[in-house]
Amino acid sequence: MAKTDSRRGPTRRTVLEGGVATGVLLATGIPVDAEPADAAASPTPVPTMPMSLRINAKDFAVELDPRTTLLDALRNHLGLTGSKKGCDHGQCGACTVLVDGRRINSCLTLAAMHKGDEITTVEGLAEGDQLHPVQAAFVARDGFQCGYCTPGQICSAVGMLGEARAGWPSHASADVAAASVALTDAEIRERMSGNICRCAAYPNIVAAIRDAAEEA
Ligand code: FES
Ligand code: FES
Repeated sequence: MAKTDSRRGPTRRTVLEGGVATGVLLATGIPVDAEPADAAASPTPVPTMPMSLRINAKDFAVELDPRTTLLDALRNHLGLTGSKKGCDHGQCGACTVLVDGRRINSCLTLAAMHKGDEITTVEGLAEGDQLHPVQAAFVARDGFQCGYCTPGQICSAVGMLGEARAGWPSHASADVAAASVALTDAEIRERMSGNICRCAAYPNIVAAIRDAAEEA
């Protein structure tokens, strides 16, 4: 029952409280006299399907909801938490992994689509204790600060170096028909523009990739 001021009717506060309560009921669609939900009712089980994934040269057998993204499969089901989720919308690049040598956003693909593919995550780049040249260059050049974008940056750089070696042009290429690509800083910046870094380590990331490209 709304409180009223005997002389002035309902106060502003009680009108607001009543409005909020009504709004919540309308928004949730719960009738005022609804019975409480049956606490014992069990939720419908999520259907799953068996999948096999080959990651970092090892085979994994998993049973997953077919809607599971590759990123969630890696992080939540296989313990490979190096690949990061920055947006889950294909906008940040933190989830970049390599599939058959090509970089993709693992948040935008389903795990179920990768039977038979060779998936490489940041955990699979080093050879034992020997860092991949791109990893070593990121360390040497301080190509990271918080490190959250770094696995995606490194996987993306590894894929990008392969694309450049194959002669793929970019938006920054003056001659798209040229047989080889000179990895200028402008080329590196353009080709890495799908990987966002909030710590703004970009100058050092470019320097690291330039070093790795020269070493390769
Ligand atoms: S988490 Fe995949 S692009 Fe951002
Ligand atoms: S190092 Fe922090 S977001 Fe890139």
